[in-house]
Amino acid sequence: MSRFSDGPGARIVGLGHYQPARVVTNDDLAADWGVETNDAWIQERVGIKARRFAAEGETTLDMSVAASGKALAAAGIEAADVDLVVVATLTPPTMLPNVASQVAARLGINAPGAFDVNTACSGFSYGLATAQHAITAGASKTALVIGAEKLTDVMDFQDRTTCILFADGAGAAVVTASEQNGIGPVYWGSDGPRGEVLNIDDDGYIRQEGQAVFRWATTALAPLAKQACERAGVDPSELVAFIPHQANVRIIDLIAKRLGATNAVIARDIVESGNTSSASIPLALSKLVERGELPSGGPALLFGFGGGLTYAGQVVTIP
Ligand SMILES: CC(C)(COP(=O)(O)OP(=O)(O)OC[C@H]1O[C@@H](n2cnc3c(N)ncnc32)[C@H](O)[C@@H]1OP(=O)(O)O)[C@@H](O)C(=O)NCCC(=O)NCCS
Repeated sequence: MSRFSDGPGARIVGLGHYQPARVVTNDDLAADWGVETNDAWIQERVGIKARRFAAEGETTLDMSVAASGKALAAAGIEAADVDLVVVATLTPPTMLPNVASQVAARLGINAPGAFDVNTACSGFSYGLATAQHAITAGASKTALVIGAEKLTDVMDFQDRTTCILFADGAGAAVVTASEQNGIGPVYWGSDGPRGEVLNIDDDGYIRQEGQAVFRWATTALAPLAKQACERAGVDPSELVAFIPHQANVRIIDLIAKRLGATNAVIARDIVESGNTSSASIPLALSKLVERGELPSGGPALLFGFGGGLTYAGQVVTIP
């Protein structure tokens, strides 16, 4: 089988992230929001120690712009050179105009293709694949792919089974055409008949059947993540990093074990950031790269999963 990095294609050349200033610990949720919970329960069942909440006027658009500016600087690419902006989000501040065209306007990107993607927590992998497809089809040369959420807008602080999980933040990647491909074929799919287990209800708040989501994540997903490796011609043992959606440390560790990512750094950004849906993968990846914890040039598996139910993953080369 040929390897994903044989021949020309697209690759990630820069990453950036943004997290709001406000750090909220598990004890803060109990003290400031009156949530009937405690630090020990959350750490044991989910693995979260703290998360970030956006300020009142701070939006998914603001966070997207901040993360994108950093990704462009890391890539050494001018905003004017970007010709495609893709924003994965389920919390746009407005449905119209979309977030992507507003990000472009704020950054001074002139007349790019600009669209939003909503596949919830798998959104970044869908967005990355779509940008890759545009580049390899010759429709674009330089894309900005963003995952950004202000989940505090859709969190019910009376519901302790959800409000302890979610948070705000953004991550971004600059993707360019490249002589050596650095993004493997996406493995994506969905399970619509089971979609009701995770939804935004008529009252505007996220609801979930936690145990059903947990079971799905820990039984169905590892073989699907493996498919993304197979499509890239990479054995899971060769991965230098596994960056799954940051939903629950127990879910992350079970998928990593069943996948056989024995030599990989496993992203556990959820511990300090909570679940930021479509932002969680680029946020975790950008932080690991910034801290110098991943070897440049090595293969890493990104794997998103969640609302829909949807999933998507691809092997990428660490920039
Ligand atoms: C939500 C989740 C952490 C709940 O953990 P769980 O082990 O399934 O917990 P349960 O719902 O069985 O509840 C166990 C007990 O803890 C209690 N509990 C629930 N939430 C609590 C909280 N925040 N703090 C303290 N106790 C809590 C329950 O009331 C229950 O008490 P009881 O035994 O007296 O009835 C877990 O199901 C999960 O992570 N699911 C996946 C969710 C997810 O990742 N969603 C996003 C996907 S993108």
